[in-house]
This record gives sequence, structure tokens and C-alpha cells, in this order.
Amino acid sequence: INYLVPKTRGQILNTLIEGLQRQEYRGYDSAGLAIDADADGTVDIYREVGKVAALRKLIEASDANTEELFDVHAGIAHTRWATHGQPQRKNCHPQRSDPNNEFTVVHNGIITNYRELKALLTSKGIQFESDTDTECIAKLTKFIYDQNKDQDLDFSQLAKLVVVELEGAYGLLIKSTHFPDEIVATRKGSPLLVGVKTEKKLKVDFVDVEFPDMAVQTEAPTAAGSNSLQLGVPGSDALRHSQSRAFLSDDGVPMASEFFLASDPAAVVEHTKKVLFLEDDDIAHIYDGELHIHRVRRDENAAPTRSIQTLEMELNQIMKGEFDHFMQKEIFEQPESIVNTMRGRIDFEAKTVQLGGLRTWLTTIRRCRRLIMIACGTSYHSCLAVRSIFEELTEIPVSVELASDFLDRRSPVFRDDVCVFVSQSGETADSLLALQYCIDRGALTVGIVNSVGSSISRQTHCGVHINAGPEIGVASTKAYTSQYTALVLFALSLSDDSIHKKERREAIIDGLSKISEQISEVLKLNDSIKQMCDEVLCEQKSLLLLGRGYQHATALEGALKIKEISYMHSEGVLAGELKHGVLALVDENLPIIVLATRDSLFPKVMSAVEQVVARSGNPIIICNKGDKTMDKFSDGKFKTIELPSTVDCLQGLLNVIPLQLMSYWLAVKRGIDVDFPRNLAKSVTVE
Ligand code: G6P
Repeated sequence: INYLVPKTRGQILNTLIEGLQRQEYRGYDSAGLAIDADADGTVDIYREVGKVAALRKLIEASDANTEELFDVHAGIAHTRWATHGQPQRKNCHPQRSDPNNEFTVVHNGIITNYRELKALLTSKGIQFESDTDTECIAKLTKFIYDQNKDQDLDFSQLAKLVVVELEGAYGLLIKSTHFPDEIVATRKGSPLLVGVKTEKKLKVDFVDVEFPDMAVQTEAPTAAGSNSLQLGVPGSDALRHSQSRAFLSDDGVPMASEFFLASDPAAVVEHTKKVLFLEDDDIAHIYDGELHIHRVRRDENAAPTRSIQTLEMELNQIMKGEFDHFMQKEIFEQPESIVNTMRGRIDFEAKTVQLGGLRTWLTTIRRCRRLIMIACGTSYHSCLAVRSIFEELTEIPVSVELASDFLDRRSPVFRDDVCVFVSQSGETADSLLALQYCIDRGALTVGIVNSVGSSISRQTHCGVHINAGPEIGVASTKAYTSQYTALVLFALSLSDDSIHKKERREAIIDGLSKISEQISEVLKLNDSIKQMCDEVLCEQKSLLLLGRGYQHATALEGALKIKEISYMHSEGVLAGELKHGVLALVDENLPIIVLATRDSLFPKVMSAVEQVVARSGNPIIICNKGDKTMDKFSDGKFKTIELPSTVDCLQGLLNVIPLQLMSYWLAVKRGIDVDFPRNLAKSVTVE
């Protein structure tokens, strides 16, 4: 929404489309936008299935009006990842209230009571055009607007009446022909930020606004039985308690500004680095060049102010550079990203660890009854990878939970539990819901998060940013090694009051001092792994990965990478479980990768190799450089991937890298769009 300098329609379209492209990495299946047709206030909607480029093409083919100049303009755009309804044009956002596009809406999240709302609105004669939950928001907004015409509601008051009817999660933008050049934005459980670009220095004034009381107007009961829904009730508590802030210049005059609302900083960073993160139940209303923030309802615990933060992310940080894909770039960034995770936190001389975000909490954490690590996907695997060293160093029982399963079980949580939430994005809906669940039960919560300012990093009591830098490839790589490292640092700092663990701690810290260099060494295997993929693996249908102890997590993570990027079926198997079922799959054809680097479980892993060989299997062995056992074992028959050795609990940081490379090359070889695998999203903000 621009109040800064007049812009052509072509420029506005470009800004919106480029903003969408910056968020492409999140994964999506369709895109759309709404823009004013001309200065008379009618609105055009463009929607297309597929990539943002397809949307651009559609607009270029059908829109000639690019030279029209707008002094002020509010546009909205969206990339969608289907939750309700197939990826089809009718289901893309923006969704609209009616054929005249009086209200257009883009929405992230899920409206869980959309069926009830739809039934109610349908009973009022309103016709729906899509299969989405979002459409009910647009239709509901118009319905409430029409019902309250005589009230002369402003746009934020209207939005408030809409929002109180919504259940579920949303990051929401609404544009309206009734409020031209205005936008309302609101969120609950889904991220939303406002970037502000202005030519003057930003100054923020706090204004308390109390809306006047209005007459209560309730809905008549409906035949559809939805009479418990009282739509559009001016005078409710929601309308009366509101807070607002505006951007003012030094002399108190609203400043010429341009506002960029987005769910992800990557979309705004090229325009401005000044951003304000909205909180749940905030309604941001932008008009006349000012930003006002209202609250949906009075909440004594809500922070009374919203601060403007400066993003430290550079645009080039989110570009591909010399690499063909973001995922490849991120794999090769690991020698650096892992150093960034450790930077300023380890004193390699004194062999000590300091984590600023946990310092004042360590004593409390040490006294906890148990530690529960909760995460999804790759982040979950990073928890599994460190569980054993955590237990060894801290002597605290550790359980590792998939957020969705943890919630499904309504697992008991107590006040003296510490719950650690590990997430790259900090926005994963399952993890966020589990976080709320643990907060509600009084547990201490810790966030191990990459995205600064994300919901998990803000809502946990304390935590550690992994500082891996923006991760764009849908398949997580550098975030995994950085999460793993940050968790090891967490375990080290928890145990630093224990004298008898000193030697072990120091060995790990020594290991960490060399790990970046060793990762660089492993990355030199790139060409040979590519060759192995071309020659041995590419045509295969299925792949098993065996590991145990520290390497079980590596096997699971490797299998996840391979299936999500190359679409090859792959399974990570605990080597000890082989004989309990999976062995039935083994024959001379099935490729089996065995993680057989040296640690205390090495002999047991070799016994799994024997079991495989006895069934004519031909394993590919990931082992330590120069390990002669392999030759003896296979008469030089097995293919090996030889890696440098480090401390047992850090070996997974090295062992996972050939598997990341393998998944990458398999995907490239199979012609798959590595950064945007089908059906997956980078940040899954729906349950
Ligand atoms: C999605 C991504 C995975 C990621 C998982 C958890 O499924 O595709 O790569 O591991 O979410 O995400 P988080 O941001 O919480 O680490």
C-alpha cells in the first residue's frame, strides 16, 4: 500500500509479483492478486494455478492498462498451498465477496468453523464460488458490512466484527472498494509483519482510541440452526477497547510512507528493513499513510506496544549466487553456517560454552523433572540426533516428540518439565500448537529456532537462535546441522557444573573446533556421490538406510531428504530392527546404505551388514576414512563413502552430508524441481 510517490499500475503489479516470488521458496501450488482496475475504484482479480511466473504471464496477456498512474494504491497478493479445495483457479486467493469484488481477501491458515459460517451465509441466500475456507471470510465481511450500513463503520471496526466470528488460524489481508486505498490486516496463529518505508525518520506515537458505544444488534435465529452465531454485533466489548499507533513525523503530521504487509520478511526486505511484527489478535489498519493497530479484544496480558525492528537479512543472502539451486547453495554453506551457530558462544581455549539466551535459565532447567524435545520433520531428527548426548551430559531424562503426535495424545506435561521446541521457521503450526499446550500447563519452554522474530522464538520463555541464515530450499539441510550443533551447545552448557563430565565436554568442544573444516572435506566428495547416483542409484525404486545409536537419526534424516526431493521411496531403519522385519525386503537388487562409522556400536552395525550380505545384498557403506574392516569384509566389493572421524556424538554432522548430496543429485538427475518439490511446503503453517 503506497502513499509515497505516484506509481503506475505496471509498477504496482511488479511489486506484488516480485513479493510473491520472494516467498516462492515456501512451496505453493497457485498464486493470485487483486489490484485496482483504474482510479474509479473497481478491482481486478488475477489468479492462476502453478508458479508465480504463470500468474505473471496471465496478467501480461490480459492486462493492457499498465500505464495508469495511481497517487495511492492498495494491492494484495498470495501464493497458496491447498488445504481446502484442489489447486484450481476458483480456489486461488484472493477470494471475493461478490462479482463486483467489493471485498477481496488473501489468507494463510485454516478457518475451522468455515462450514458453520458457510451454512449460515448460504441460508441468507449468499452463493459460494470456491471450495475454500477463505471464501467465507470475504462473504462474511460483505454480509456484516451490508447489515451495518447505517452504523458507518470504519474498515477496522468492520474487520473486528468479522474476526470475532472466525475460529482457527489466520494471517489475513482485506481490501475493499468501499474503503479504497486502505488495507486491514490481522493475524492469529499465522505470521504477519508490516514493513514501513518512508523518507523521514520513523517516529511512533501512541494513541489510545476508545470507540463510542453502539447499539447492540443481534441476529435473528436462522433455520439452519446456526443461531448461536451472532454476526455483526456493534457495541460488543470487542469494539470498545482498542489501541492504536500511527506513524507521525516530528511535527505530528502523518508521513508519506509505503507499507508492505507479508507473512515472511523475505518478501519485504528489498524495499525496507524496518518491520513491525503483528501479534495475535492485532488488527492493523492502514489509511491516509498511517498505520493503526487495534486489538480484537481487551487483553490485560497483551503487550501495549509494538516495536519496529530492523531486519538484518540482506537480499543477497536469499539469492542463489553461483549455485543452480538454493538447496545446493545451502548444503555448501554448511562449513560457514555451522560456524555462525557457534560464533561467540564457545571459548575454544578455555573450552567453555555460553549461550546468552539461556544464561539466566540454566539453573531452573537443570532442576527439571524431564526434558521434552518437540518438533516436526527434519527438526525432529535433529532432536533424535542429540538425545543420547543430552542424557549423557545432563543426566536428565529426555523424550523426543513429534509435535502432532504429542498433541494427539494430549501427553501429560507438568510445571517442572522443560519443553524444547526446535524449528527452522519458528512458524510450524503443529509445533506452535504444542508450544501453547505446554505454556498452558505451566512448563518452561525453550526455543531453538532459525527465524528471528518468528512465533516460536517470541512465544517461548527463552532460547537459542541457530543463526544458520535464511534457508530457502524446501528440504532442510543447513538448518539441520545448525540445530544439531545448537542442541549440543545447549547440552554442554547444562552440564558445565559437573566436574566428572569435564573431559567428555572438552573432547566435544575440540571436536566442534574442527567440524567446519571436516564438513568442507566431506563436501569434496560431491563429484563421486553424483557419479554414484548416476551409476547405481538413479534407476532404483527404493532405498534403505541403516544406522543405530547416534546414526539412527542420520538414517531417518537421509531417508527423508531422499524421499522429499527425489520422490524415491526410502526408509531409515534402526540397524538393530533389521532382523525383525525389514530383512524380508533385502535381495541382490535393493540398494542399502549402511552408516558404519566407528563408535561403541560399530560391531553391532557390522553384524547388520553381515545379515544383509548373507541375503546377497550389496550395501553401500558410509565409514571412516581408511577403515580396513570394510575391505576385509567385502573383498573390495562394496562401495564405500569414506568420511573424516570426529567425536561419536558429532559424527552425524558429517555423515548426513553425503546423504544430502545424494538426495540433491538424485533429484537433479530425475529432473525434479529441487527447491520446490511437489506437494511440500517449507513452512507448514496449517495443522
Ligand atoms: C516442513 C518442511 C521440513 C521441515 C518441517 C518442520 O515439513 O518441509 O523441511 O523440517 O516442516 O519445519 P520447522 O520450520 O518447524 O523446522
